[in-house]
Amino acid sequence: MPSSEREKNILIESELGAEGPNSSSASLGRDGRSVVKGRETASDSGSKPEILNSSMSSVSLSSKSRTENANEDKDKSNLQYKPESWMMPDQAEGRLSQLNLAIVGHVDSGKSTLSGRLLHLLGRISQKEMHKYEKEAKQQGKGSFAYAWALDESAEERERGITMTVAVAFFNSKKYHVVLLDSPGHRDFVPNMISGATQADAAILVVDASVGSFEAGLDAIGGQTREHAQLIRSFGVDQIIVVVNKMDVVEYSQERFDMIKQKLGTFLRSCGFKDSSVLWIPVSAMENQNLVATPSDTRLFTWFHGPCLLDAIDSLQLPARDYSKPLLMPICDIIKSQSQGQVSACGKLETGAIRTGSKVLVMPSRVVATVRSMERDSQVCSIARAGDNVTVNLQGIEGNRVTAGGVLCHPDFLVHVANQLELKILVLDVTVPILIGSQLELHVHHAKEAARVVKILSLLDPKTGKVTKKSPRCILAKQNAVVEVVLQGSVCVEEYAKSRALGRVSLRSSGRTVAVGLVSQIMKTQD
Ligand code: GTP
Ligand code: MG
Repeated sequence: MPSSEREKNILIESELGAEGPNSSSASLGRDGRSVVKGRETASDSGSKPEILNSSMSSVSLSSKSRTENANEDKDKSNLQYKPESWMMPDQAEGRLSQLNLAIVGHVDSGKSTLSGRLLHLLGRISQKEMHKYEKEAKQQGKGSFAYAWALDESAEERERGITMTVAVAFFNSKKYHVVLLDSPGHRDFVPNMISGATQADAAILVVDASVGSFEAGLDAIGGQTREHAQLIRSFGVDQIIVVVNKMDVVEYSQERFDMIKQKLGTFLRSCGFKDSSVLWIPVSAMENQNLVATPSDTRLFTWFHGPCLLDAIDSLQLPARDYSKPLLMPICDIIKSQSQGQVSACGKLETGAIRTGSKVLVMPSRVVATVRSMERDSQVCSIARAGDNVTVNLQGIEGNRVTAGGVLCHPDFLVHVANQLELKILVLDVTVPILIGSQLELHVHHAKEAARVVKILSLLDPKTGKVTKKSPRCILAKQNAVVEVVLQGSVCVEEYAKSRALGRVSLRSSGRTVAVGLVSQIMKTQD
């Protein structure tokens, strides 16, 4: 690998921490069906394979919070925490494990069409519903979007023919209960993509094989194939399936597929993805080729002998789950029932477990509520553990005290609520350097907050993590650095060494992701 690539690889790995929050615009709307708009799951932080390179990990792991002023007394060490026996998984329950799978990629690559097709083929969308979508889409002159309509439910999304908020849908493969997170590809909705995909255990990166479209996705300025791949990697996702879609448009050309694999493969390697963790699947979502069965089109099956998409999903490995730590569930979305005055929090348990009747502390409100009931894929469930993506119906709390971007945690083990952070970051391909005073948007799990760079402490060697320069004036593209940021408001956050899921950040500016990173120190908490 050329040194520049190797460096980038390390950088991205090190920054690992970035976990995107959900931009504030994600809409809610669980409707009891298999598809839920605007809801996302969280990834199991503790379970992710270690991706930090030595430089990042050494700094982050040796970092100590300077927050003597806050939370310290309440923030008992996890060492004191003893999980109860029901919190550990019970094989006898015999249910499929949840796999949180983000569908990401450039605008119009066919993510929603692919998702809709899969749901239809796997029986999650009935023939009757499909006919309805086809008819309505045709009436609006959007016939080609019929499958996408299963995921793009809002009038605006359908009108514009783009996904705006993450849709959550469920299906079963042989091995997994898959939580599918269909992300928006349009650059305006990257914050929503961040919020959804931050929960991913693995991802499907969809690229459009058509001439010009694949190239646009990989463009250094506006290509979301590029931005999404970098973000996904920074969330700690290391397994991806690259779906080369719209193969019908290029006559199922092996030459085109190989060219895409070669070009994108080089880029993915530079992001830190290992060749052995990337699967390449040519498909046509429109013509139903190679989705849940081997292809029937001779132009494809004569040269492609790998697995179909569904089998590729089954070949993904479930990350280890962290059941032994106290509960942490970043709140991706909330649902309020006006009539019954109830409030529900949706999200993925990062660590720990809850069951009906459990007391949970709702942060940042600091109000204790009781779990009245829970749902997983619209089915009532009594226990949820790390990795599970659930809706938690709460009682004993007013609706306005539960917010997306907040966190449900164990009443004795509070998360920090902070407004000043030290971050280790990797700057991406930016043209404008980061300076003291730079105004950025910080994303952490499902929260988003305006941030100002107040100090640039050092530049780091990407390989060793050692300081190469103290107090530099600016940070340029592809550099590793330690910075201090002051937030306009406060966010629920942890140091990366303590919680990967709550300690990963991404920084955006002018509609682009400019850096990814992790929280190395919490400097100031709100108290
Ligand atoms: P965003 O969510 O807005 O980023 O778009 P998307 O990636 O979800 O794409 P969507 O599924 O909305 O599809 C965009 C267009 O591509 C629609 O007109 C689809 O009919 C078309 N399309 C999707 N898959 C295929 C395919 O396999 N072949 C062809 N020819 N067209 C496809
Ligand atoms: Mg879409």
